[in-house]
Amino acid sequence: MTTTPPFTPPAPPAASPEERFQSLIGAGEKIEPRDWMPDAYRNTMIRQIAQHAHSEVIGQQPEGNWITRAPTLVRKAILIAKVQDEAGHGLYLYSAAETLGVSRHELTEMLHAGRQKYSSIFNYPTLTWADIGCIGWLVDGAAITNQVMLSRTSYGPYARAMVKICKEESFHQRQGYEIMLALVKGTEAQRAMAQDALNRWWWPSLVMFGPPDTDSPHTPESVAWGIKLETNDELRQRFIDTTVPQADHLGLTIPDAELRWNEERGHYDFGPIDWDDFWRVIRGDGPCNRERMAHKLAAWNEGAWVREAAQAHAAKRAARAAAPTPVSDSPVSDSPAGVQR
Ligand SMILES: [Fe+2]
Ligand SMILES: [Fe+2]
Repeated sequence: MTTTPPFTPPAPPAASPEERFQSLIGAGEKIEPRDWMPDAYRNTMIRQIAQHAHSEVIGQQPEGNWITRAPTLVRKAILIAKVQDEAGHGLYLYSAAETLGVSRHELTEMLHAGRQKYSSIFNYPTLTWADIGCIGWLVDGAAITNQVMLSRTSYGPYARAMVKICKEESFHQRQGYEIMLALVKGTEAQRAMAQDALNRWWWPSLVMFGPPDTDSPHTPESVAWGIKLETNDELRQRFIDTTVPQADHLGLTIPDAELRWNEERGHYDFGPIDWDDFWRVIRGDGPCNRERMAHKLAAWNEGAWVREAAQAHAAKRAARAAAPTPVSDSPVSDSPAGVQR
């Protein structure tokens, strides 16, 4: 007697890489380095992560400017730790970019050649100690608003980097706010210094979210690919709604005569941003653009011998580790093979 083999339904036609990519995005899953991705997605991610990494690195300069002049030893220790965090964020992000098939060295060279950008916010000078307060409170505050959204972005290594970075950024934001709090509780001159810094940093902080949605060519594509989950204008509004009560608590005035709570919208209304001025800074003509890049290039050139020495050391260690363990009749050492003490 013969038995009929069980019926096996035909396998569905294999999904194309493009369909699989779109279905991962649609399901809210992460795209990982091993996954197929459209070239335009890969290039967008490289551009965005690199710009973010460069911003962390260049962003050390305006604050580093105050390490030697911090008003107390405690403030100095905190500022050194914060600047060091920013360097770490940069390295972390270059590593995330490298998973897309580009090297940190190539990205650095593109920055130096002016082919990649960093955030324009770092092209403003830090004139007083209150600027260090405003950078933490407003600049790191704006960065967090954007980065909390990016911790859910579709590219896995970038999203995971954001989780760690956001934890440190929230410390940065609080330390900046605490500097402002100390200043507004101080003398009349210190309160004036705090207000002056807010006047100078408020509008550039709002610009950090990028151009208005109506003028933002990359936004629709980035939203479709799950890179951006909220638009520039939505994030900017959230930042304003969070920050205005903080300024009220400090007793400082936000330099915007049109700023007022809109009961109907459930948000603050605010005045128009002078985009012409900001485009000038973005195009390279801000107060510190040349100085920042000159300093970056000088540090890179002066550090060439350190990179060469580190590479030579790594090559030596690799050669030692690859060499066969010498046979010897001398007493057994407790040092593992290939490890030099
Ligand atoms: Fe950072
Ligand atoms: Fe930060």
